[in-house]
Amino acid sequence: MKCIFNGQLRDQEEVSFPIDDIALLRGYGIFDFFRLSDGVPLFIEDHLDRFYKGAELARLTSPVSRDELKRLLFEMFEQNRMEVSGIRIVLTGGNGNGAYAVGKSNLIVTQEPISFPTDEMFAHGVKLITHEYLRDLPEVKTINYMTGIWLQQQIKESGAFDVLYIHKGEVHELTRSNIFIVNNEGELITPKEKVLHGVTRKRLINAIGNVQQRNISVGELANAREVFITGTTKKVLPIHTIDQWTYQSAVEGSKTSEVMKVLAQLESEYVHKLVVGK
Ligand SMILES: Cc1ncc(COP(=O)(O)O)c(C=O)c1O
Repeated sequence: MKCIFNGQLRDQEEVSFPIDDIALLRGYGIFDFFRLSDGVPLFIEDHLDRFYKGAELARLTSPVSRDELKRLLFEMFEQNRMEVSGIRIVLTGGNGNGAYAVGKSNLIVTQEPISFPTDEMFAHGVKLITHEYLRDLPEVKTINYMTGIWLQQQIKESGAFDVLYIHKGEVHELTRSNIFIVNNEGELITPKEKVLHGVTRKRLINAIGNVQQRNISVGELANAREVFITGTTKKVLPIHTIDQWTYQSAVEGSKTSEVMKVLAQLESEYVHKLVVGK
């Protein structure tokens, strides 16, 4: 399997990574993740935009330019031939000043198998639990998933699919996805601030048009009619329960089911355009 390491296409087994990098020693780094569908890198421009913007916000510099990275990515897709897969682009902090400052970043891109929620989950929805937490630099896709991974045991014991982060009475996001609610007036709302601006979230907001982007209180979440989450590997996934609250997200004719169709349409249009445009 080929990967990209600091501007070169290499065999994964060949790459050696410096053990003094603050990504390893301090958890300092950023990344992005997108997927190939039928060999087409879905919404790649949005992901590259977010990656380079995230690098800037985290005060990191990629050793590889955007154009060069894009060229290398397509070369890697060509060689690995994994038509359905996930692409992870990681930019590390490097090492400066005794492992407590950013240094010369390393760029590592890997291609890996991906899995999606089951048909049953898409059809009937899943359960979430809540946890009081705000991600560090929430607008940046940092490599720090400490809390989410630490909570895995609790998630499993509660029979939940994932955890929703709430902070000071407000709803933020999940470990790896954004949240939308539909209130009793049928309005679609998603948190605006202190969340990662997901590419799936952005594409849906643009396509649907009348989505309110604003703070959502926990009270509003409790009284919502429907809830769904969005993300690269979650697509649009209905939620039927959060803690003690239940929702009508997966029922016939729900707003959530309409949004699921919107995303499917956006994806197939994008794939079609790239395949035909080749
Ligand atoms: C914290 C967080 N929020 C939201 C998302 C969803 O973003 P996207 O739709 O770009 O996958 C992710 C993706 O992994 C994430 O890690």
